[in-house]
This record gives sequence, structure tokens and C-alpha cells, in this order.
Amino acid sequence: MTALVFGAGGQLGRALLAAADADLRVAGVGRAEADVADIDAVRAAVAQVQPSVVVNAAAYTDVDRAEDEPEKARRANATGPAVLASVCAERGLPLIHVSTDYVFDGAKEGAYVEADPIGPLNVYGRTKAAGEEAVRETLDRYLILRTSWLHAPGGRNFVTTILRLAAERETISVVADQRGSPTSAGDLAAAIVVAAKAMKRGEPAWGTFHVAGDGAASRYELASAVVAAQAAVTGRRPALEPVTSASFPARAVRPANSALDSNRFADAYGFRAEAWRGAVERTVAAALAR
Ligand SMILES: NC(=O)c1ccc[n+]([C@@H]2O[C@H](COP(=O)([O-])OP(=O)(O)OC[C@H]3O[C@@H](n4cnc5c(N)ncnc54)[C@H](OP(=O)(O)O)[C@@H]3O)[C@@H](O)[C@H]2O)c1
Repeated sequence: MTALVFGAGGQLGRALLAAADADLRVAGVGRAEADVADIDAVRAAVAQVQPSVVVNAAAYTDVDRAEDEPEKARRANATGPAVLASVCAERGLPLIHVSTDYVFDGAKEGAYVEADPIGPLNVYGRTKAAGEEAVRETLDRYLILRTSWLHAPGGRNFVTTILRLAAERETISVVADQRGSPTSAGDLAAAIVVAAKAMKRGEPAWGTFHVAGDGAASRYELASAVVAAQAAVTGRRPALEPVTSASFPARAVRPANSALDSNRFADAYGFRAEAWRGAVERTVAAALAR
């Protein structure tokens, strides 16, 4: 069985290529080979690889810059999934599409479940919500996997940003009033492999699911875990200063709470991502070893 991954150069795309095994071949195309909004390029990649399932790991993920480049964000996050879904429909292929906790408005007290109403606060979240809708309208056999606060040793993400700042500064200001479920890109890739193999066995559960690191943390708690894990290796420990979102200059408004409840995926597929703290410690160790 072969999975064809679009957006193979990103954090999740690279983790998916690394997650291939004897039962699941993973072929990847990056943006240079196939822009997901270009239907001819998508058709050509699918015709060449002849996959059993398509995975969309491509996205415009710069949440702040999306406010100033809404058309670029829409092209990758809404048009792209629509194109992938229509090519999957032409070919009778299932699509695993990855979406985001930022489709929610953050007003809920606890972790979000799949049935909660969406209400994106920023351009990124609105374009991702439009991408989800295009997939649902076009296909019956789809998985939409919403994830949250992805981290990977080599990517550009909150964990590696804190590591970089920790090497440069004595004090780092971190927002303490945003909560999410930090998720290892490796764990999300493992969940996608589990789902693809269930499709191969003819036992898939279609629809929208949450797949995120177990538990929830504020950005401040996440940064504290990063700094502690780094101090255990390097001995260097900058101070962290909790600040409010209102006092922190950011272009996009972010949800105050976007923690995700991943029980539905665990029940359907028997896979649960690791608790967030352990996964962050592994990412820090791997990043420092690079
Ligand atoms: N990162 C997070 O914290 C986070 C949180 C929740 C959900 N997600 C979702 O998780 C998924 C994977 O995110 P990630 O962190 O792996 O993202 P990433 O590291 O930013 O990778 C995205 C990849 O998509 C590529 N890309 C952008 N526009 C494209 C287009 N039009 N056609 C083809 N490729 C395109 C990018 O190429 P360039 O580098 O050349 O632009 C990049 O290689 C996305 O669906 C994202 O929305 C991410």
C-alpha cells in the first residue's frame, strides 16, 4: 500500500516520510513538485505514484503573516484541499486531510470535541475551516484530523523558537493565557499510519477526528517544560516571564483555549498520542542533539 503525501517538506510531511514501514510505503511531493492548488500538478503526481490513499500535509501555517496575505493562505488552505478532494473523487481514492485547533473560538472551558461548533478568529483558522468544508462536500471517504501546536526537532515551531530564544536571552516573555494541546509531529504521523493501515484492512472510520498530544498546557507551561528539558542537558536556564496575550504584540488573534479531546480517534483506531510533556522532552532532546 502506498500513501502519497502532499506538503512533504513540512514538519508533518517529513515525519510521515520517516514513519514508512514494510506495510506502508510513503511517497512524498513537496511544494516545488506539486502546488496543491494546481490541479494539473496534483493529477500528475497521483498518476505517477498510483497511491491507495492521499495525505494532505501541505498548508500555509504562518498564523500572523496570513492576516496580511489572506489570498496566499486561502490558496493553500482552502483551494488546495478542494483540489485534492476533487482529484481523489476522480480516482476513487480516500483523503486524509490535516486541520487545526484554530477553527475554534477558544471560549470553551474544557477540551474541544469534534461535535463542538467552530468559530475561527483569524485568517488562518477561517481558511482551514473552508478547506475542511471542501473535503466534506466532495468526498465520502475522508478523514479530517485536527491537531494542535505541532512540534518537531527540525521544524519552525513554538518549541524550537523557545530553544533559540533560550540560547540568546536571560529572560523570555511568554503568554500565559492561551491553552492548547502540544502535539509531536511524529505522533501525528504515527496516527496517520495507523489510519492508513486500517483503510488497507478495510476497517476505516471516516469523518472528522481530533489527534493531539494528551492533556493541555498554556504557552507558559509549555515554555517552562522546554526550558527545564534544555537545562537538564546544557545547564543553562533563562528566566520566563508570564505575560498576557493583550500585552504581547501579535498580528493575529488566537483562541484562549484550543485544547483538543482525542478520545474519538482513540476509540475508533486504538491510537493515542503521548502525554504532551514527555513528547516535548523528546523533541527538545532531539533538537539539541542535531
Ligand atoms: N504547526 C502547527 O502548530 C499546527 C497546528 C495545528 C494544525 N496544523 C496543521 O498541521 C498540518 C501540517 O503542519 P506543519 O506544521 O507540518 O506545517 P509546515 O511545517 O509549515 O509545512 C507545510 C508545508 O506545506 C507546504 N506548502 C505551503 N503551501 C503549499 C501549496 N500551495 N502547495 C504545496 N505545498 C505547500 C510548505 O512549503 P513552503 O515551506 O515552501 O511554504 C511546507 O513544506 C497543516 O495542515 C497545519 O495546518 C499545524
